[in-house]
Amino acid sequence: MKGEPAVVSGLNEYLSYELTGHRQYLLHAGMCRHWGFERLAAIQDAYCAEEIRHAAKIIARILLLDGTPAPPDFGAIVGAPTVPEQLALDRALVGRAIAHLRTAIAGCEHSHDFVSRDMLREMLDDEEHHLHWLDTQTVLINQVGLENYLQTQTG
Ligand SMILES: [Fe+2]
Ligand SMILES: [Fe+2]
Repeated sequence: MKGEPAVVSGLNEYLSYELTGHRQYLLHAGMCRHWGFERLAAIQDAYCAEEIRHAAKIIARILLLDGTPAPPDFGAIVGAPTVPEQLALDRALVGRAIAHLRTAIAGCEHSHDFVSRDMLREMLDDEEHHLHWLDTQTVLINQVGLENYLQTQTG
């Protein structure tokens, strides 16, 4: 099944976000665990795994469309040195991923590729949940203070 080049390139671009996110959350999980924040580490592990599931689905879809899985850009990742900075860095990445997803979903509609569109819509749901979780943590930190928040994350 031959896919529209615009759909395949939108999928490949999104694949870059998934793989960047996967590696960023892996680093953040490791750092949180090292600091003793086991609860946060477990949540970062789960997001890390979610991005790999997304990536695997995107790769399968690109191949089905006779495209070549070739993410154009592996974003440089750094482990942010504190929990609030990690949350901010993750939020920036998820925000960019959501903006890209919305564009890619519109591109799928335009090309009448409704299967790709529905797959990306499901991923958009997941990313919106992720964004909501990140924002909730920031609200909590502002409400109870960083020290108290971190104490609740020690597992
Ligand atoms: Fe994702
Ligand atoms: Fe995510």
